[in-house]
Amino acid sequence: MTSLQQDPAGLLAAERALMPRREFLPFSPPLIGEEEISEVVDALRSGWITTGPRTKRFETEFAGFLGAPGALALNSCTAALHTALVTLGVGPGDEVITTPMTFAASVNVIEHVGARPVLVDVEPDTLNIDPAEIAMHLTPRTKAIIPVHFAGHPVELDSVVELARRHGATVLEDAAHALPARYRGRRIGAGRNPVAFSFYATKNLTTGEGGMLTGDQEMLDRARVVSLHGMSRDAWKRYDKGGKWQYDVLLPGFKYNMTDIQAALGLWQLRKLERFDARRREVVAQYTSAFADEAALVPPTARPEVDHAWHLYVLRLRPEALRIGRDEFIEELGKRNIGTSVHFIPIHLHPFYREKYGFRPDSFPIAHANYLRMLSLPLNLRLSDQDVADVIAAVLDVVRTYRR
Ligand SMILES: Cc1ncc(COP(=O)(O)O)c(C=O)c1O
Repeated sequence: MTSLQQDPAGLLAAERALMPRREFLPFSPPLIGEEEISEVVDALRSGWITTGPRTKRFETEFAGFLGAPGALALNSCTAALHTALVTLGVGPGDEVITTPMTFAASVNVIEHVGARPVLVDVEPDTLNIDPAEIAMHLTPRTKAIIPVHFAGHPVELDSVVELARRHGATVLEDAAHALPARYRGRRIGAGRNPVAFSFYATKNLTTGEGGMLTGDQEMLDRARVVSLHGMSRDAWKRYDKGGKWQYDVLLPGFKYNMTDIQAALGLWQLRKLERFDARRREVVAQYTSAFADEAALVPPTARPEVDHAWHLYVLRLRPEALRIGRDEFIEELGKRNIGTSVHFIPIHLHPFYREKYGFRPDSFPIAHANYLRMLSLPLNLRLSDQDVADVIAAVLDVVRTYRR
């Protein structure tokens, strides 16, 4: 609609843009199509509802999409990270370097295996782990580095991988946000090192709950045993024709397998992923062009060597340009019926980590300062162009109202 065309209510587009939304715009609802629903129904009717043929197919197609050596479907990204650490033999006495600008899962798994998380600060532009900080915190005990591709922007992998190689540490990528991102032309998850993806309800591809571990096939074969009770052979086949009832328990493994009901969703979401990606980019382009000239706002950027997966649109405020802080800014957007979120409350501010490791807010000054001024705008596949216009209008209205 051009600004002079009328909508069904007889309003000009320019007038409509100035009106607050009547209905609340949720931050990140999933988009599930009829294809996913039919595939789930087929799985339910098939008589095989746990790990089975659809999970196998999802693993193969996912690995094919990325160009990965192999893929292991699990019930969450947390499970994938935990399984990978156990498979790598990380345990008590070891250190694992990661970022405070992440969800608790990335760090909790280090605690789960009894190792020590070593947090290091982030880069001011991408908010990804800073390789220079990693270099200062490597010790002979560093067994792994868990870089998180924050918001879907790949970390500076060349530097991280080189540092890890020199110290004999493994890079376990937390790619919960990074599907389908590329670093220097190669998909995140296409390499031999372990990479963990999330298919949680808000993610770029969802199976409700779910995750995938990609990497070297020999590592994945061991991870498969770790992830399913430590059982030898393809235990999931043991109830099928020709399946063997015998198995050995080789170690006290976990119960982390994906079900065929989840995989049914994933198969179709994967087929739609490129289309989903294109739509996310359109929304991002509209937000960024609307906010680029506004002195109170700092839109996210993408470095030239990456293809950003745009899982999150993290807008930063310039506190010196506004009379309100981030929390009030979020409240004002809520009053205008716009749902937002904050990614993330840095790990070192959470009581467990703060108390166990004696962190102060300024232990990681860049993470902390950015936390205080960031908010995530709705970026999902259910947004209409009108929704995007409403978000932009609401953000600019709050800025205009509270400009210093
Ligand atoms: C950076 C990051 N890592 C890990 C996870 C955990 O993913 P899951 O919920 O699939 O276990 C999340 C979840 O939101 C995340 O944002």
